[in-house]
Amino acid sequence: MRFMQTLELPFADLDPPPTLPEGLFHYAGFVDEAGQRRLYAALAEILKAAPPVQNRTRGGGLTSAAMTNCGAVGWWSDPKGYRYSPTCPGTGLPWPPIPGDFLQLVQWVTAKSPWPDFTPDACLINWYGEGAKMGLHQDRDERDFSQPIVTVCLGDSADFMVGGLARNDKATALKVHSGDVLLMGGASRMRFHGIRKIYPGTSPLPEITGRYSLTFRKAL
Ligand code: CO
Repeated sequence: MRFMQTLELPFADLDPPPTLPEGLFHYAGFVDEAGQRRLYAALAEILKAAPPVQNRTRGGGLTSAAMTNCGAVGWWSDPKGYRYSPTCPGTGLPWPPIPGDFLQLVQWVTAKSPWPDFTPDACLINWYGEGAKMGLHQDRDERDFSQPIVTVCLGDSADFMVGGLARNDKATALKVHSGDVLLMGGASRMRFHGIRKIYPGTSPLPEITGRYSLTFRKAL
């Protein structure tokens, strides 16, 4: 897996690099294709053991992304609300553990960040098929907001929306690609964010359909 500095974007000559708010880091191309293939091999095992499903929201609607988890606990949504659960509410089984390659990647990402000791105990896996999106929201079901959230992108490119600290603040699109990593912490930990759209068929790996996001949290 190769590391590239933040904002060394391959399309930097087309657009000025976006200025990201304090606490939000975009590591474009952090994981090369060989690394992505290795991550996906581990992910495929999780998807077999705990297949992603579309969940009911608190309002009774259905999420357009399908979700599953690995880790000691997993994030879940149903009409009872949002929470972390040690078992998959659908199957009653514990979530698969976080693979070693995932933990290693997170450690590389955070080693030189303001959060070098970040150790995730939960990894929410969202799968976005064609037309799937995720409305602006905050990640606020974790116990300690001094801990950051690390997001790894695999598969199709997407518009990741970066909002403000209030729901109605203006949001701007940050285009993210397979192998990119996002880190949200500190002043950006409670920033609203979402997925406006994915770009079907843009995955560099033919074995991946749609977009997977792996979001690592310290939930407990
Ligand atoms: Co989120």
